[in-house]
Amino acid sequence: MGINIVKKGGSNVTIIIFERFEGNMRILILGSGGREHTLAWKIGAEIGKESVFIAPGNGGTESCGTNVNIGLDDFKGLLSFCKDNEIDTLLPGSEDPIAKGVRDYFEQHSDIYVFSPDKEAGQLEGSKTYAKEFMHRHNIPTAAYQSFDKTQVAEGKEFLKVLKPPYVLKADGLAAGKGVLIIDDLLEAQEALEDMLLNEKFGEASSKVVIEEFLDGIEFSVFALTDGKSYVLLPEAKDYKRIGEGDTGLNTGGMGAVSPVYFFQDEVFDKTIAEIVEPTIEGFQKDGLNYRGFVFFGLINVDGQPKVIEYNVRMGDPETEVVIPRLTESLSILIHKSKRGELTNRIASMSKRYCTTVFSVSGGYPESYEKGKEISIPDCDTVFHAGTIRRGDKLLTNGGRVLAASAFGINLHEALAASYELTEQIQFDKRYYRKDIGKDLKW
Ligand code: AMP
Ligand code: GLY
Repeated sequence: MGINIVKKGGSNVTIIIFERFEGNMRILILGSGGREHTLAWKIGAEIGKESVFIAPGNGGTESCGTNVNIGLDDFKGLLSFCKDNEIDTLLPGSEDPIAKGVRDYFEQHSDIYVFSPDKEAGQLEGSKTYAKEFMHRHNIPTAAYQSFDKTQVAEGKEFLKVLKPPYVLKADGLAAGKGVLIIDDLLEAQEALEDMLLNEKFGEASSKVVIEEFLDGIEFSVFALTDGKSYVLLPEAKDYKRIGEGDTGLNTGGMGAVSPVYFFQDEVFDKTIAEIVEPTIEGFQKDGLNYRGFVFFGLINVDGQPKVIEYNVRMGDPETEVVIPRLTESLSILIHKSKRGELTNRIASMSKRYCTTVFSVSGGYPESYEKGKEISIPDCDTVFHAGTIRRGDKLLTNGGRVLAASAFGINLHEALAASYELTEQIQFDKRYYRKDIGKDLKW
């Protein structure tokens, strides 16, 4: 496929391209999280906030565009809003509308450009089996696996016997990030398999289960923007998923993130491009998939060998809150170039500075928590909103993950110090945040 690989850290990688967007773009972003606020912040600064709309948005997106009170499942309502407001581009933030076929619907009824895969290609995230078969077909490194349905409980239990512990069991379908079990004991793993398949432990999502080899290494996230033929590599990141310090306790939607990731260079970088990113984009073409938008490669570095843990068909959250601020070129131009088929394989222009984010969450999250707490917040446009809502002149909490304090620094230490300084200025009753984001990495 031939990409002009510029080594990271090389003197010629941070060419900052200042391109003015000469065309017209009016965009509707779907979602209400920190990811969508960050995308609206970037695009609003590029094309003007009068051209940016966010459905349904949150208390922060209002400063980058106009919030639109239409539900994400209401495709008809979204489409008629787009037509009435001369929207030409739709950007779904999360996997839900993609999995429900928002692109297919818009394409059937309009010529609005939807920057996401269609429903079929969205299965790369929506079905673990579909993703595994794709990787297998295109020789993309991933954990060895086998899939089982309800009629194959006995075969699944036998397969577990031949694997070494710990055992990794995954519900095939979307389970809001909760469908993966990692179990040390064989009997327990066999019982869990039965529970998933026969009792639909994760609902319909676990009517099929993927059992796979456990991979031991450090996870990281790589992102590309694609028109389905060419790709632009975005900054990489590492997120922190557990609620407790030292990566303990329940899984969350993400407690913080850092970018860049120190080991994503040299051999790991080259292997990621040659063995994972390029074969994936080529795979879209070989399989005739209608893929465009973002590709999120959830990777694990196993002793210098990157392997794919999962694909997501959208940007990550909270990774977006550190990836997009480091992008020094225009996101709207990249989307526009994708529409015109003008992307070429390359690394995006990105800042050499580190960016980190620390999430302030509601006390009790990810279990039950209260909403409606009054928030005080520093005056800084990189404090991205997630679970917030404006009521009159007050800003109130409206979700579990509330605010992501993103900041830059010339190294990880400085960026984290700045993120924590912002975080300390955020106040609301029962606020919690992790104090160890990035502390496991080399400084
Ligand atoms: P997934 O939904 O596939 O991203 O899995 C959720 C989490 O489970 C990942 O972020 C990993 O921490 C862990 N995980 C998934 N698959 C494996 C594997 N094969 N080996 C080790 N950990 C895994
Ligand atoms: N941070 C992981 C995700 O967005 O799925």
